[in-house]
Amino acid sequence: MVVNLDKLTYAGNLENLRDIESNPQYSFIKGDICDRPLVTQIITDHNIDTIVNFAAETHVDRSILSSAEFIQTNIGGVQALLDAAREVWGEGVGKRFLQISTDEVYGSIPEGQLSSETFPLSPNNPYSASKAAADLLVLSYYKTFKFPALITRSSNNYGPYQFPEKVIPLMILNALADKELPVYGDGLNIRDWIYVEDNCRMVDMVLHKGKIGEIYNIGAGNEVKNIDLVRTILKELGKSESLIHLVNDRPGHDRRYAMDFSKVKQDVGSLESVDFKEGIKQTIKWYRDNPAWWGDILRGSYKDYYAKVYSRR
Ligand code: DAU
Repeated sequence: MVVNLDKLTYAGNLENLRDIESNPQYSFIKGDICDRPLVTQIITDHNIDTIVNFAAETHVDRSILSSAEFIQTNIGGVQALLDAAREVWGEGVGKRFLQISTDEVYGSIPEGQLSSETFPLSPNNPYSASKAAADLLVLSYYKTFKFPALITRSSNNYGPYQFPEKVIPLMILNALADKELPVYGDGLNIRDWIYVEDNCRMVDMVLHKGKIGEIYNIGAGNEVKNIDLVRTILKELGKSESLIHLVNDRPGHDRRYAMDFSKVKQDVGSLESVDFKEGIKQTIKWYRDNPAWWGDILRGSYKDYYAKVYSRR
């Protein structure tokens, strides 16, 4: 039985869960991970033995506009989950708590280097600082209380159903509408793109085979410069590169993320992953084929956010 606890904030969308909502092994609860009594009750009532914490405020630009929600959910929420689980689980023998983290906690990685799990934490924006704090808190519970926690740190996800604030859907939707494609700075920042389903399958493998107390980097080795990513999208859509606009850089913008993910391959296993060229094509096709999904979002509160972020650039 899987219980999904979700606050359904701006990016939450029950439409994304239509295909599993009637599964008898699935149940949905609307609520906040910061609500410790609720979390305690859910763990108790449903006899939860495994927690995977995907819940977070995730968007860097939003954390620059306002960091309060990031501190509250990404740190306070993790503390509430840990304490609720400890309260119900006691020593937690046979239980598992997996914290979903990010490659952003390592900060910007110079060319020629890769961040392994022992690389120093050096977050550069309020979002990544909140995720780094949560990682340290989770590890401290493992060390202090022998709490059965482990951590995954993934690179940039892409694929269907991604909220259009993220660069790939944003650029696809702007290109489809013949709107400007706002590329930050010189466009030479690098991200390592992993297809969302590949990431989820690796997370699942770590959940089952990873060792308590360990951290596992999950990457794909698809390092792409933003400007090349945007050109690929335009080419695939048959649109002109004149839509590209280099705009003011994101403050604290990390130049490059690139992880060494040999540990997860060695200790947990590897999977055949989606080739980036194929994955980006499938993703573009999905957004093309699903205007009803993103149309609702673009007409909602996202409009105000977009105006706020892109007016300062
Ligand atoms: O690396 C993992 C992280 O990837 C996750 O932890 C975060 O939750 C997730 O949001 C993502 O962070 P990024 O900041 O890398 O993703 P984003 O899609 O915002 O931006 C990707 C790159 O594209 C980054 O270098 C900034 C650039 N960009 C982004 C936007 C929204 C632009 O040039 N223009 C834009 O309008």
